[in-house]
Amino acid sequence: MSAEYAVHGPVAVITLANPPVNGLGLATRQGIADGLARAQADAAVTAIVITGAGSAFSGGADIKEFGTGKSLQEPSLSSVIAAIENASKPVIAALHSVAMGGGLELALGCHYRIAAPGCSIAFPEVRLGLLPGAGGTQRLPRVVGVEAALNTIVSGETVKSEFIGAMPGQKLFDKMSASAESLAAEALALAQSVASVRPLPLVRNLPCKHPAGDAYFQFTRNMIKGMAGKFPAPARCVDAIEAATRRSFDDGVQVERAIFIELMWTPESRALRHLFMAERAVSKIADVPADTPRREIRAVAVVGAGTMGGGIAMNFLNAGIPVKILETRQEALDRGMATMRKNYEAQVKKGKLTQEQYTQRMALLSPTLDYADLKDADLFIEAVFEEMGVKEAVFRQLDAVAKPGAILASNTSTLDVDRIAACTRRPQDVLGMHFFSPANVMKLLEVVRGKQTAKDVLATVMALGKRIKKTCVLSRVCDGFIGNRMLEQYVRQAGFLLDEGCTPQQVDQAMESFGFAMGPFRVSDLAGNDIGWAIRKRRAVERAEMKYSRTADKLCELGRFGQKTGAGWYDYQAGKRDAIPSALVEKLIEDHRKELGITPRRIAEEEIVQRLVFALVNEGAHILEDGIASKSSDIDMVYITGYGFPLHRGGPMHYAGELGLFNVVQAMERFAKNPLDDAAFWKPAPLLAKLAAQGKVFD
Ligand code: 3HC
Ligand code: NAI
Repeated sequence: MSAEYAVHGPVAVITLANPPVNGLGLATRQGIADGLARAQADAAVTAIVITGAGSAFSGGADIKEFGTGKSLQEPSLSSVIAAIENASKPVIAALHSVAMGGGLELALGCHYRIAAPGCSIAFPEVRLGLLPGAGGTQRLPRVVGVEAALNTIVSGETVKSEFIGAMPGQKLFDKMSASAESLAAEALALAQSVASVRPLPLVRNLPCKHPAGDAYFQFTRNMIKGMAGKFPAPARCVDAIEAATRRSFDDGVQVERAIFIELMWTPESRALRHLFMAERAVSKIADVPADTPRREIRAVAVVGAGTMGGGIAMNFLNAGIPVKILETRQEALDRGMATMRKNYEAQVKKGKLTQEQYTQRMALLSPTLDYADLKDADLFIEAVFEEMGVKEAVFRQLDAVAKPGAILASNTSTLDVDRIAACTRRPQDVLGMHFFSPANVMKLLEVVRGKQTAKDVLATVMALGKRIKKTCVLSRVCDGFIGNRMLEQYVRQAGFLLDEGCTPQQVDQAMESFGFAMGPFRVSDLAGNDIGWAIRKRRAVERAEMKYSRTADKLCELGRFGQKTGAGWYDYQAGKRDAIPSALVEKLIEDHRKELGITPRRIAEEEIVQRLVFALVNEGAHILEDGIASKSSDIDMVYITGYGFPLHRGGPMHYAGELGLFNVVQAMERFAKNPLDDAAFWKPAPLLAKLAAQGKVFD
């Protein structure tokens, strides 16, 4: 059942009942249409109220139906709205909570609207690469004015009902109820009071004009160009709203419909819809049910106050959770504390934080050199040097000091979490929490599940991650986890491209025009080229057979570690971050090619992008096969939130599906024939090969 029908005296009440948010899927639309027909046919009914059960009036069209054909099946939302408009009895929308997208359009199609204070009102379609497609762009300007409507539709932002209710001249709400609790009674009373009023008011009949039409729309188009980036939807929203001001209502609806269908088929919208679902799926772990009990986290201890420790601590302070931070030496502790203060002061200066908030946050922080001070912590996060011996010693000490039930986490980026867990007497309480730098800014948190990590530990940390506003992605244990394991292949390809004929700036430019904010060499200069150098030195011991370009080592041998040393793949002027192509680096690359006897060739931008992105895809497929990531959409979330993969491409695994996995595999077969590349790597992962052969995509 997705819409319920009841009669209260002379008023019929249709209640949307399609949890979790009363999405307007086919069955719900049918339920509304049936309810309307029933109420129309019942002579005792004089008015009809539409309301929603649960936590929403309606979150809009059912996103899960998009692309399945069901969303186009009759009764469409537009037909339901037309049936409401054509009803001979007044229809009143009663909003107690969320009214978004198609839900708001449904309300706008009703003759009257009553809302409780605190309702979330929005047209978020633009965030899915769409526009409101059931008359929203034509009706909203008629009730709140063109400018307010345009701002709402183009931004997708949520506005509270009481704010709209207080707007002078607004016609969105005919009445605000005193509270959510009194809404039902007030809606019934409104219904009875308007039961005999004729003609029935229709939003479509209201005028829609802007006094400075041409100039205003020109101005908004210019504004939007810069903000919209690669997304077509915002500009198309303006087109539809402009049509509302220039054409008849019905013509305007036709314009809107055509744009909606056009946008629905764009790769940008498919990417955003994929990411909407991916974001909601990411926190779900198949064998850890949502009702798994969680441990309480009231106090956190961070061990190591270096680059990562300080940033990690700030996350908890920002969420109001007290933190004790431990170092081995006073000097290191002071340095860590000073960095945190500096970060907060910068936020105060930028107006992002008040002085009072800064003081409150620092008051939650206690520095210490003594493990005994950490004994009350519910969660420990270790962020010391990346050396197994050092980590093991720290975990032994944590095991000795922590109370039973406390969770012990490591921020290691490469080391074996199971080995770390094994040096404690409580491996079930140990896991990895892999933050990204700067840890107080970056959204991504890889939660690393050890062989013995308990389910309630995972449930607790996933929920805590949400509390500190991170996107938590579950990873099993492997070198580099999900993100860095894939990155290694991406960076390796970038190195081969230099050997074969590219300059760092060519590679960076290609990736930047693909949509990355920064290409691999600019990123490496920012993060520090020495990090990759240390990993390659370790690889040389562990996996000597692994082929990679030696150019990056040669760069590091010159001390060119990147921005922090004023020189890396690029030159940098003191105090500036602009990457200036370096003649020295060009010569270094040329000399290296000569040494290897390579005649450089011109490499097309398409090949650069494919080699780097498909390297991510192939390694991603291995990661899925190995069970390191549990869903391909989790991998996409890692790359979108942690590695600047372009949003409009939806993540590497989704993007590969858009291209067609068969085409991806064919390109890999071509790359494998290049003697300067790594043929073994380009053998498609079995999962990828299988899906490509079946004409499927990653699911
Ligand atoms: N369709 C289908 N499922 C939806 C949905 C929708 N429109 N909106 C939310 N859901 C589902 C989510 O997938 C999630 O499912 P899960 O429990 O299985 O993971 C569940 O509802 C809860 O979602 P959230 O975790 O986001 O819950 P919140 O309480 O934080 O937020 C919300 C609720 C504000 C409604 C938020 O989900 C939201 O912003 N939804 C998107 C609304 C939207 O974009 N609507 C426009 C749709 S397009 C449209 O209407 C076209 C029309 O113009 C023709
Ligand atoms: P860092 O060198 O900046 O900081 C490490 C801190 O740990 C130093 O202040 C040091 O004094 C302290 N320390 C060392 N031994 C200690 C001990 N026994 N007890 C207490 N404190 C001790 O290193 P960084 O970059 O903060 O890295 C820390 C961990 O985070 C490493 O495991 C690293 O791999 C991981 N990591 C680093 C990222 C980065 O971008 N820097 C990103 C993600 C993870």
